[in-house]
Amino acid sequence: MQTTLIESIAREVAECTACPLCESATRAVPGEGPADAAVMLIGEAPGAAEDRSGRPFVGASGRLLDALLQRAGLDRSQVFIANVVKHRPPENRDPTPAEIRMCQHFLMRQIAAIQPRVIVPLGRHAAKFWLPDIQISRQHGHVHHVDGRVVIPMLHPAAALYQPKNRPLMEADFENLGVHIRNGVRSAP
Ligand code: URA
Repeated sequence: MQTTLIESIAREVAECTACPLCESATRAVPGEGPADAAVMLIGEAPGAAEDRSGRPFVGASGRLLDALLQRAGLDRSQVFIANVVKHRPPENRDPTPAEIRMCQHFLMRQIAAIQPRVIVPLGRHAAKFWLPDIQISRQHGHVHHVDGRVVIPMLHPAAALYQPKNRPLMEADFENLGVHIRNGVRSAP
């Protein structure tokens, strides 16, 4: 039942022409993972490698994300990985507010279907979706409760690729994420 819902959302994403991004993109990137995943990781938008493969976080950021997940005691196969925007913006520019608005119902429906225990936005742009005033440099790794959901925003893996000094911070945050998950994160008030 859940799987069918996730699959039908993915089919709708693949056919979506609501915004111009579908014209420049090669493939839609709906997201992937178990339909009952306890943890959902959410990036901003697909990059070049994702656009070619139709899968989220498969480029350099994705390889780092896999290593970070291991720090949390998680394997990629256990988590659902998606993006706020499902088609690649040209030249990796930021998606516009209108593009985000037109795409966000897919992510909302994925979350409603999966009902994850923890949502992990990756980077400021994804985190702003739940925490509009977030200062990611200060609040990464903190546990937030938003609309009945546990949200733990992280720095985007690309931040560690461009600035190696961020990598130990991210490793520590993912290790803490593993502790929260194993201890059972306090459910939202
Ligand atoms: N960066 C993102 O935000 N999402 C991806 O899928 C890949 C890189």
